[in-house]
Amino acid sequence: MKILDINTVYCGDSRQLMKQIEPESIALSFWSPPYFLGKEYEKDNTYESWQQLLKEVIELHFDILKPGGFMVINIADILAFQDEKMPRIMGMNPANRKCAVTREMILRAKSEHPDYNRDQLAALLNCSEQTVDRRLNGNNIRGGKYAAGTHVKLVGGNLEQYAYDAGLFLYDKRIWKKDPAWANSRWTTNTLKAVSETEDLYVFWKPGEYVVNRERLLPEEWRDWGYRQIWEIASVRSNDVHPAMFPIELAQRVIRLYTDKGDLVLDPFLGSGTTALAAIQTGRNFIGIEMMEKYADLAAKKISNEQAVLCLDLF
Ligand SMILES: C[S@@+](CC[C@H](N)C(=O)[O-])C[C@H]1O[C@@H](n2cnc3c(N)ncnc32)[C@H](O)[C@@H]1O
Repeated sequence: MKILDINTVYCGDSRQLMKQIEPESIALSFWSPPYFLGKEYEKDNTYESWQQLLKEVIELHFDILKPGGFMVINIADILAFQDEKMPRIMGMNPANRKCAVTREMILRAKSEHPDYNRDQLAALLNCSEQTVDRRLNGNNIRGGKYAAGTHVKLVGGNLEQYAYDAGLFLYDKRIWKKDPAWANSRWTTNTLKAVSETEDLYVFWKPGEYVVNRERLLPEEWRDWGYRQIWEIASVRSNDVHPAMFPIELAQRVIRLYTDKGDLVLDPFLGSGTTALAAIQTGRNFIGIEMMEKYADLAAKKISNEQAVLCLDLF
């Protein structure tokens, strides 16, 4: 079996290609997988197959990480997870209420006409029978009758378990505070939910001695973000080349914090190549794996441009 070369982008499935990485060679694996949000590169996934992908990729890390190496996963909880089992009750916004009939009016009509059914009460009060039903039973299904309800689904606990079972320990957790993602949220005037504006960074450690090198960052960098849990970094504004790029500063911070120059950094969900670019810019080596050919090609192109710039700088 051919061992993967360093400083190369591979197009294929990480679950296959990671088996060809030199054992105990990776100082840091930094990646952001599909988030189960229905993007084009994950449209065939069920929740179960998505979890299986994460589990397998995490398990494959144990052999390839150096003892003392780190695996850092950037992911977000699913804020609108569709669930058929969830009662289909929508938030009721009084400002949107078109019909002035109140629950009290219906109760009064019911006590005056105890033998009336819903249709008769509706006719008496000049409203729809759904209004009668909603006011009496609270099952406000307006607009949501056919769509499954959505609730928050936490993902970190599963990652922790998959890693733990594979021999990797959750060493630290940081939070990336990004721009509020108005466009991506199922946020409407009929919910009390917040828009998404954070993502998580789960830092897993493979047992072994690791380096605590205070020279890796400047004193003000330790103060501003090295020791800090919340990293405020603007999101990538344009997603015309890839729909889910993380900012290069995020990758640079992770790489500079957990590795030294010359170390090998893996990204098994390379996308547009951000981690590899950050590795090059910070003097580290990389291996990148991306399943979709168009993104693997894009990453390879960006990387060769970056390498060309680096060569020019040297001369
Ligand atoms: C969230 S994106 C990563 C974006 C990347 N961090 C960037 O800044 O461009 C996840 C990527 O993983 C790729 N992917 C999904 N399943 C994969 C698999 N099994 N093996 C390799 N890549 C996969 C998708 O095509 C997608 O480009």
